[in-house]
Order: sequence, then C-alpha cells, then structure tokens
Amino acid sequence: MIREIVQYGQPILRQRCRPVTEVDDSIIQLIADMLDTMVDANGVGLAAPQVGEDLRLAVIDVSHDPECVSFLKVNGKDADLKSIMPLIFINPDLVFSQEKELGMEGCLSIRGIRAEVRRPAAVRATLPQLDGSVLEIEADGLLARALQHEIDHLNGVLFVDRLPAVAKVSMKNRLRRLLEETEQG
Ligand code: NI
Repeated sequence: MIREIVQYGQPILRQRCRPVTEVDDSIIQLIADMLDTMVDANGVGLAAPQVGEDLRLAVIDVSHDPECVSFLKVNGKDADLKSIMPLIFINPDLVFSQEKELGMEGCLSIRGIRAEVRRPAAVRATLPQLDGSVLEIEADGLLARALQHEIDHLNGVLFVDRLPAVAKVSMKNRLRRLLEETEQG
C-alpha cells in the first residue's frame, strides 16, 4: 500500500526514532508499504518517519545505477550491488571515512529542493536484518550517501541541515514556503 509521505515541517521528521524491538506482522507490513511508497515516488531511499512511524527502520534501492559505487563489500567480501537491493534494515550503525565529498541530494519529504551536500565519501554500516542476521556493508558513492541520508532521518536530521551557512541562507525562503504549504495541509 502506498502511504502518504510526511512533508517538511511535520514534527516526526525532527524526532530521534525508537529502536525496533520486535519484527512482528505490523513491521513486515510497514516495510512492504515503504517499498511501495519509495518505488511510486521514484525515490532511492525512505525512512520510517517519512511515512509517520517513529522507528529506526529504512529502505534503500540504488540498483537503477549499477555504477554508483566504486567498491562494495558485504560481510568483508566483494559483492554485487543488485544482490543486496532493495536494502532493508533496522537499528543501523554507521562508521564514516575521513575523506569527504560533495554530492547532489534531494528528499521525498522536501519537495522541489535539491542541493549539494558534503559528506564522508565512504561508510561502514552495520545493518541488522529482519531475520536476525546482520549485514556489514562497506561502500562509497551513492550507496554511502543514501545510507547517511536515511540514517540521518532516524535521528531527526534532514539534508538541508547539512548545507553550508551560505547555502542555508539562500534556501531559507524556499524552506519557509514549504513550511507554509505543510501547515495549510
Ligand atoms: Ni530524505
């Protein structure tokens, strides 16, 4: 089922989400809904708070672009990007590289705004799976960026928070208009 995507200004996007403690039928249904919603919106990732659920849970699918990473290791071994997509994870943990790079980002909860965000170029992510196993992923490129963007959502952080001060100022009016649209429903 496609769910409505929570828009900029709604308080749940600013919350630190709760860990998933039990994978029950409602979580399985929520994940199915999140995948449907992400595909319908042509997104590469979606976090639970974006569909109104205060939970540390997200989905990512960057398989449209097999060249979007220059390396990918899964549990220490070289892996094929498609083999782990769509990526579904609960209660994630991230370690970043020192080196940073700029990359274009948008967000399904912040319509019509895209901007370059500076983030660590590579990550090591520990991603618990629904069956109790754990995926350890090391990657760069769009996958590293998507992991950081979605995990930010679970901590109430949005990509516009990570823009340099000058870009924030120039974006201020556009964000205020979005807030007004959200308030008017
Ligand atoms: Ni987003």
